[in-house]
Amino acid sequence: MDAKHLGDDLTVVLHTEEELRVRLAELAREIERDYPEEPPLLVGVLKGAVMVMADLARELNFHAQMDWMAVSSYGVGTKSSGVVKILKDLDADITGRDVLIVEDIIDSGLTLSWLKENLESRGAKSVRICTMLRKPEALKVEVDVAYVGFDIPVEFVVGYGLDYAEDYRNLRDVAILAPHVYSGE
Ligand code: XMP
Ligand code: MG
Repeated sequence: MDAKHLGDDLTVVLHTEEELRVRLAELAREIERDYPEEPPLLVGVLKGAVMVMADLARELNFHAQMDWMAVSSYGVGTKSSGVVKILKDLDADITGRDVLIVEDIIDSGLTLSWLKENLESRGAKSVRICTMLRKPEALKVEVDVAYVGFDIPVEFVVGYGLDYAEDYRNLRDVAILAPHVYSGE
């Protein structure tokens, strides 16, 4: 879906489909360079990372096996708590494997730092993170992120896999959601 079909739901388009594509291609070249021996297992975090995974995996010029996890990052309430529950676990055994976590966005960083440690504790050879977006001013914990598409301001964004109440994931671009859409909550 194009932003023009969303009326005044969005305030600003931060990154267009084309910008996202170009940046992902740059990241793919870095990733290819960083794994010269064996391609990493790509681990996508459902559901937001679906678009990033689809585009990154096809951009990579090596075998790109994909696996998926679903986690709930929030405990009670709407604030990220660092309490993470696995809703769907990996199919693959990652013992001795290089793992590249593919994410849509890092906000507080609590989910990703938990996930990275969790995968390391299963005996992965290495665990790196690739995220399309990051909100550096929202970080609450240090997370070592190897590949970042774009740093963005602390605003609620949707599109390219990111949702508000499950909507807007199929918007091609990344855009700031207009407050009137969620202020009625
Ligand atoms: P952390 O633990 O880094 O949580 O705070 C990251 C997760 O929070 C969600 N998230 C967003 N989803 N627009 C969204 O649609 C946003 O601006 C946004 N910020 C955080 C998302 O699920 C991410 O995986
Ligand atoms: Mg997510």
